Amino acid sequence: MADPRDVLSPALSAAIARALGPDFEGTDPVLRPSQYADVQANAALALAKRVGANPREVATRVVAELGDLPAAVEISGPGFLNLTYDDAWVTSLLGDLAADPRLGVPVQETQVVPIDYSAPNVAKEMHVGHLRTTVVGDALARTLEHLGHRVVRQNHIGDWGTPFGMLIEHLLAVGENSEEALLLESDPNAFYQAARAQFDGDEAFATRARARVVALQAGDEETLRLWTELVGLSRHYFNRIYSTLGVTLTDDDLAGESTYNDDLAGICDELEAKGLATISDGALCVFLDGYTGREGKPQPLIIRKSDGGYGYATTDLATIRHRVERLGADRCLYVIGAPQALHLEMVWKTARLAGWLPDHVEVVHVKIGNVLGEDRKILRTRSGAPLRLMALLEEAQANARREVDASRPELPEETRAAIAPVVGIGAVKYADLSVAHDSEYVFDLDRMLAFVGNTGPYLQYATARIHSIFRSAGEPPSYDAPITLGEPAERALALRLLSFGTVVAEVGDSLEPHRLCTYLFDLAQDFSGFYEHCPVLKAATPELRASRLSLAALTLAVLSRGLDLLGIETPPQM
Ligand code: ARG
Repeated sequence: MADPRDVLSPALSAAIARALGPDFEGTDPVLRPSQYADVQANAALALAKRVGANPREVATRVVAELGDLPAAVEISGPGFLNLTYDDAWVTSLLGDLAADPRLGVPVQETQVVPIDYSAPNVAKEMHVGHLRTTVVGDALARTLEHLGHRVVRQNHIGDWGTPFGMLIEHLLAVGENSEEALLLESDPNAFYQAARAQFDGDEAFATRARARVVALQAGDEETLRLWTELVGLSRHYFNRIYSTLGVTLTDDDLAGESTYNDDLAGICDELEAKGLATISDGALCVFLDGYTGREGKPQPLIIRKSDGGYGYATTDLATIRHRVERLGADRCLYVIGAPQALHLEMVWKTARLAGWLPDHVEVVHVKIGNVLGEDRKILRTRSGAPLRLMALLEEAQANARREVDASRPELPEETRAAIAPVVGIGAVKYADLSVAHDSEYVFDLDRMLAFVGNTGPYLQYATARIHSIFRSAGEPPSYDAPITLGEPAERALALRLLSFGTVVAEVGDSLEPHRLCTYLFDLAQDFSGFYEHCPVLKAATPELRASRLSLAALTLAVLSRGLDLLGIETPPQM
């Protein structure tokens, strides 16, 4: 345990119970950072009401029960406890942190956590919405894994449905190994639109396409072969995006809509047999209490359309059953667009009623907000077409290259060429992660790539700067030397470092990667403050120099580990 709050919290709770009685066992002392001390306990205010005493008196009684703490305690204001940690204690905690390969991040009791994220559609361009679920989902996967959980990545790609008749016929029309077929790997929208144009303009083609859907659903071998080919080409496209982004998804994580085909009829039958689904206007529907649409009419969850086809609701019911029964899930995350909230809620409620989602399994919608253009509308290109994700990532890398060329012209060409993609992609990912995942944000490459402010490049630059200190020192980064804390800037940096583990655990609980971004940004700023006020290489004594180098190296370790949990790489120089 590295975070002083984690150590003081139980001691304070125990003192509260001793002061106020056994009813108050386990009370949270509510430790918050404070500008008057290292941390402030705010519980007395709330407790005062319950015990019918004034808060200052409650605070006094708690202090009387505190016993020996490695901190100075002072009652302030209406009844806060201001706690100032002893220097020696902070130094020893910092020593523990440096000795801990996990840098204070706890190992939690293992849960099985399927995470549904990314989920692009076959033969369609990935858009910026997919970028965001991919980047947020991947950061959560990395973080939860690091906390000791067994994450099962589930890439629920859209690989089934009526458009596949048209897409397969188009593939046949252009030729399987043709240039046009290869568009699926580079510009899938162009392929899709060409197929669509044929479908709309050529009646014979449209008839063939409809027959193809039937053949596909009936499991016709040749049709399935063509479908597999189509999905395979799209997979190359997805994988190119994933590797450009440095995302951990692989082909093993694919669990597309088609995976559930065999489950869908059974799901409908079972819901009908359990009396949960009824036919309405020819469609099989689940009506749930409390869900009404316009004009107060009950809102159905349609699980089989009147033409016999299955939709999004049925496959998502299948995902739950699969994740609970076959994967053994304890906690299921769906990293999906915020507008899908009602859909998911209804699917989960149905699954609970059907007995497929036991109470002890938690399901969470990690809501993804929209990405907007500068006009605050859904992001498009200047010509108004939907934006191609690959083009956007290329632009980010090219802009980063210009920045690096301008700021570090003296670096060799290959070095600048290697830094640019790390900075460009890091900037895009960080911009996505640093705002709350459920809020909208404006996609602005210039702002993302700025070297100042809460940006990816700023944090990467902080790590590069520490590397450069060690290059000047002529030694590799290491934090073996004992750290002493004399200056306030050193102490502030040390305290920040100590809370890394708590923040990572909070991200795992709240599923909010932006909290880690905020922490790392604060840490980088604390480091700046330290570097400005405390000479490192020119420190007064060799011991102090070694201590400050240690502090710098520990900062580097925490920054790099934190960025790694977010899926952001760090260049050794910038
Ligand atoms: N393929 C869908 C889309 O592009 C997202 C699917 C999300 N995952 C799910 N289990 N429903 O909008």
